[in-house]
Amino acid sequence: MMIRFEHTHKFYEGAVAIANLNLEIQQGELVVLLGPSGSGKSTVLKMVNRMVSHDGGQIFFNGKEINSFNVQDLRRRMGYAIQSVGLFPHRTVANNIATVPKLLGWDANRVQARVNEVLKLLAMDPEQYAGRYPHQLSGGQQQRVGVARALAADPDVLLMDEPFGALDPVTRAALQIALKIFTELPVKPSYLSPTTSMKLCCWQPASCC
Ligand SMILES: Nc1ncnc2c1ncn2[C@@H]1O[C@H](COP(=O)(O)OP(=O)(O)OP(=O)(O)O)[C@@H](O)[C@H]1O
Ligand SMILES: [Mg+2]
Repeated sequence: MMIRFEHTHKFYEGAVAIANLNLEIQQGELVVLLGPSGSGKSTVLKMVNRMVSHDGGQIFFNGKEINSFNVQDLRRRMGYAIQSVGLFPHRTVANNIATVPKLLGWDANRVQARVNEVLKLLAMDPEQYAGRYPHQLSGGQQQRVGVARALAADPDVLLMDEPFGALDPVTRAALQIALKIFTELPVKPSYLSPTTSMKLCCWQPASCC
């Protein structure tokens, strides 16, 4: 399983954003895109789950060009967490996190157990936070729910675009370590399938994911 960019190009209104990107990411690898603002890091991530289209070259996921997938199927296999969060404002924390597991048809007990598990991983007490709405959380808590949602369905690929940018350095470092250990476990706890996600991250020199 892998992601492969082959001579990938992206233009915005005729201007080059990505020129001839060649990159291969193997299963279990953590790849960090490091570069200044405007250098194209977010664009690379968004091309992987087809939030933006690529204009030249190819992008393969598991050997198939991403344009040959049904876009919804593709996105359900890829967790995506972004700095600006993008939580559904009218859904509780639990229902935000449960979005993809429900679409995948998980039974209610499994969904609830998973919601609790990923909330705890992100250092948020389910009893306190599961029933809240996004506007009842701090910015950093919202970001953590965004990461919990990205992890919820045990995706093949995790796309993380500076998802911890609003956190203080101490909390951020603790969560990075927790996330690293969690996603690298060869066999996940309880009911989870033993997969190892590919992870593609954006970092800016002043922050990290
Ligand atoms: N929808 C768009 N329309 C036009 N230009 C865009 C669009 N999205 C991004 N760009 C441009 O493409 C370039 C790359 O943007 P991108 O968001 O990928 O950068 P980035 O490396 O993620 O930056 P940052 O660190 O600030 O998040 C920038 O010059 C940006 O202005
Ligand atoms: Mg960006």
